[in-house]
Amino acid sequence: MASSASALRVLLLVVLALASCASAAAAVAARTPPLANGLSFEFYKATCPQAESIVFNFLQDAVRNDVGLAAALVRIHFHDCFVQGCDGSVLLDKTGSTDSEKIAPPNVTLRPTAFKAINDLRALLAKACGAVVSCADIAALAARDSVQLAGGPHYPVPLGRRDGLTPANLTTILGALPRPTSNVTTLLSFLAKISLDADDLVALSGAHTLGIAHCVSFEERLFPTQDPTMDKWFAGQLKLTCPALNITNTTNNDIRTPNVFDNKYYLDLLNRQGLFTSDQDMHTDGRTKPTVTKFAVDQAAFFDQYVFSVIKMGQINVLTGNQGQIRNDCSAPNAASSSNDELPWSVLETVAETLAL
Ligand code: HEM
Repeated sequence: MASSASALRVLLLVVLALASCASAAAAVAARTPPLANGLSFEFYKATCPQAESIVFNFLQDAVRNDVGLAAALVRIHFHDCFVQGCDGSVLLDKTGSTDSEKIAPPNVTLRPTAFKAINDLRALLAKACGAVVSCADIAALAARDSVQLAGGPHYPVPLGRRDGLTPANLTTILGALPRPTSNVTTLLSFLAKISLDADDLVALSGAHTLGIAHCVSFEERLFPTQDPTMDKWFAGQLKLTCPALNITNTTNNDIRTPNVFDNKYYLDLLNRQGLFTSDQDMHTDGRTKPTVTKFAVDQAAFFDQYVFSVIKMGQINVLTGNQGQIRNDCSAPNAASSSNDELPWSVLETVAETLAL
């Protein structure tokens, strides 16, 4: 009798677990934003079916060796998409008199290891499938896998982005990437330009659950006077790392679990231990505070909104179809004679059709 009751209990638990898995999966599916024209989840199904596993397997080893690489890749995708759309333009090096986006102040702390990982991935993908996977898609996939490898959610990435031909100029970059000194009003005005809202802001800023920041990114909260909205103990800790202005040291973005993609960043904010004004003000401003509070106690709600918002971010002003190119080297546009630029597939198809006639 006792054993059949416990068997029933186990069965009930299994049913409940299955039901909650099903509803979680449904929730993620239901919360996927609309796809941009030209992008699809199965874009490389025919041309490079192993693309996603190549990226994941490479990053699994690479992130095991250097956990900071995950943070760096997540940030590169953000800096790519906010500026001139997700076109891989942030990956370009200086060519001739055209400056790279990398020298713009917000980009100088993007990590060389992450640029190298993207180029290494491009080489692996080209070896397996030819030059079909764009650098912008590699950046999006690498950011997705980094989140997962750090303990965060897995999500589907719409694919089919093409690579831009030119980097953005400094004015465009500064007008697109908000500063860490920004308050919520400024942040929302930057995000509104690319159709992102307050929920997107709170969820995407949750990527600060990973990675590091240099003293210069938050020192104005310590000197000459300490920001009264910052927890005093936390400020004292930061001053140990950054004892004066212009120190080149770094500290973790998330004081609680710096290498895990979780919701502890929001707990930091509740405790007034957010690193940047742009982080902490989200717990002061009425438009964002309720969401910060919710995510601090409900990691599933954070993951759900992060997935929705990052898929949305990953589709900002994408180049598709015959626009742009598939770069042969993520850090340089193709030479003018490259077949990837000159002969888009539609042209090849037209030629083939003509010959068949
Ligand atoms: C909303 C406005 C944002 C501002 C003002 C901002 C600002 C910053 C700053 C100043 C740093 C530190 C740079 C340094 O000193 O080395 C940083 C790091 C980072 N940011 Fe943001 N960020 C924002 C949004 C985002 C978003 C949307 C993401 C990704 C979805 C993101 C992901 C990261 C990551 C992962 C790091 C750590 C990078 C590393 O360790 O290499 N940030 N951010």
